[in-house]
Amino acid sequence: MEDKAQKKDIQKHGAGPTSPNALQTIVVREFEPADQPEVQRIFYEGLMEMVPDTAFRGLRHHPESLLLYATITVVSLVISMCWWVIGLLPAIVLCGRYFYSRRVIHGYLKQAMSRDMADIEGFYMKSPGSCLWVAELEGQVVGVVAAVNQQKSGGAIELKRMCVDREFRRRRVGDALGRKVLEFAVTHRYSYVVLGTTTYKPGAHQLYQGLGFRCVGVTNGHVTPGAKVSWLEWIFYRVRHHHYSLSVKHSQIASEGH
Ligand SMILES: CC(C)(COP(=O)(O)OP(=O)(O)OC[C@H]1O[C@@H](n2cnc3c(N)ncnc32)[C@H](O)[C@@H]1OP(=O)(O)O)[C@@H](O)C(=O)NCCC(=O)NCCS
Repeated sequence: MEDKAQKKDIQKHGAGPTSPNALQTIVVREFEPADQPEVQRIFYEGLMEMVPDTAFRGLRHHPESLLLYATITVVSLVISMCWWVIGLLPAIVLCGRYFYSRRVIHGYLKQAMSRDMADIEGFYMKSPGSCLWVAELEGQVVGVVAAVNQQKSGGAIELKRMCVDREFRRRRVGDALGRKVLEFAVTHRYSYVVLGTTTYKPGAHQLYQGLGFRCVGVTNGHVTPGAKVSWLEWIFYRVRHHHYSLSVKHSQIASEGH
């Protein structure tokens, strides 16, 4: 691991809204095997937050789904002529969306937890050009991010697994982790850093844009790895995959001389 960029990166940041006056030291360092349970917990909890995000917030972003639900409502009314069935439909739709979002995201988590997140050392730390870092605040692991060499697209590295413990958000931990990946990309002479996300939370998009990423494409109806793609899932689970890219040469980090 000696060829990897700085093992430890210490940054002082003004704390976020939860402790307005304090200066907190964020330490970003390479993963160590003892971090595994905390990293898995933070990743698991962060991903499970995407269930309500996808089921409820996502609804606003998919007019085609709203149209489908309206059509189902009209057809049900015509067939049943029963108003109480129509009254129940919004609740059925919301329950269906929650259930299928949970099922798909759980399937994705199961895959991740049995692959890279089960063997972080082997997957990230022993592969040349890849790495996983943790962020510490006052000695406690509070965030995680990984970078994976993209063998298929030459010269690109993928930022993955970005997640900050809910209790420690808005303290620039995500920013410090993102910067670490960019420094790594500069040191290892990657041309691009890419990432994909299906979150609808504006905060994550603002974080990536603040780091210099630009959205280069959106896939509507993205098939999440681990999904079973049944027709009920097709009705109740629909996400957009945002593709982000950053040119390392033109990034702020490169011009700062890292
Ligand atoms: C997205 C996430 C990593 C952000 O981590 P964080 O440590 O809270 O982010 P930071 O404090 O470093 O914020 C950096 C910038 O991102 C933006 N940002 C982050 N969270 C935000 C929020 N909730 N609302 C608005 N902007 C937000 C802001 O521009 C912020 O800069 P500012 O504080 O100067 O306004 C964190 O919310 C998280 O882990 N979410 C769950 C998992 C997830 O969604 N991962 C990313 C998608 S794959």
